Amino acid sequence: MKGIEKNAIEEISKSQTQEELERVRLKYLGRKGIITEKLSELSKLALPEKKTVGREINTIKKNITYAIEKQFIEIKKKNIHEASRCYIGTKNAIDITLPGKPFDFGKLHPLTQIMNEVKDIFVNLGFNIATGPEIETDYYNFTALNIPKDHPSRDLQDTFYVAIKNEKLKIKNEDLLLRTHTSPVQVRVMEKQKPPIRIIAPGKVYRHEAVDASHSFVFHQVEGLAVDTDVTFADLKAVLEIFVKKMFGENVPSRFRPSFFPFTEPSAEVDMQCLICKGIGCSVCKQTGWVELLGCGMVNPKVFKSVGYDTEKYTGYAFGIGIERVAMLKLGIDNMRLFYENDLDFLSQF
Ligand code: PHE
Repeated sequence: MKGIEKNAIEEISKSQTQEELERVRLKYLGRKGIITEKLSELSKLALPEKKTVGREINTIKKNITYAIEKQFIEIKKKNIHEASRCYIGTKNAIDITLPGKPFDFGKLHPLTQIMNEVKDIFVNLGFNIATGPEIETDYYNFTALNIPKDHPSRDLQDTFYVAIKNEKLKIKNEDLLLRTHTSPVQVRVMEKQKPPIRIIAPGKVYRHEAVDASHSFVFHQVEGLAVDTDVTFADLKAVLEIFVKKMFGENVPSRFRPSFFPFTEPSAEVDMQCLICKGIGCSVCKQTGWVELLGCGMVNPKVFKSVGYDTEKYTGYAFGIGIERVAMLKLGIDNMRLFYENDLDFLSQF
């Protein structure tokens, strides 16, 4: 018996790897191992002998188990030690004293960050978020918004028309286009919902435009629409003033300027002092010191008629904010192209 223990201890201490050690463990303690077999042979012995031999085998088993555990820890320690040694020039060189490789976390694109800020401001004012398709029909983008057939914005010069050859499509090919503004979402929402309505519709819009420091053929807008029985221009002004203050700070000069949109009457545009040049004049504000932030106005009754609203009963306001403009002013960027070039040095600043 003692011989078995001695052999086992010797084999254990000679084991240099976890695999070798496991082989020894199986040889002695496995299901068909030497010790296990000795234990099962106990039943053949008479009672007094059974007791003494049983005790002896159990002690040996305990000692072997202990020795295996100890050796296991030794092997582990040795492995860590070897892994941490710096074998310069060898294949498995790991030097745990070297600083770790830094890795970059992803971030939201600055335009997405600004878009989220704008959304938050209006959601906190009680607006819900609505969406609509980027490929629109002529009806939603123009006709329902009181933009007549001969309006210049319908011109090929300004609008991207979409050519899809699909017989199953019920609409005529020439009626499909990339939406030129988010205003068609107004019509889609009103067709589905009865007042009171308070929505914003964020999204991409497309215009056939040359790219320069302040223009792009694809950009972002947030549309706003509120309709109820007693909505006034004062409500519109209040909401937009809150927006400008929350976005840019309490003391930034802004102005309402009379304007024209076929789908609002009266219409206005909100300008803000150019934060890039502080009103002196630069390429972003085209040397005027003011930047146009958004268009707005009271919903034209003709639009209400196209969605079947009672024009005697309801009034509403609408606005459309240019997100790139907001982002450029807020972040102090004087060239819109930077947003679309995916230059990590630029993007990682925000
Ligand atoms: N759709 C207009 C534009 O793109 C902005 C606007 C929206 C104006 C809503 C008035 C009301 O210029």
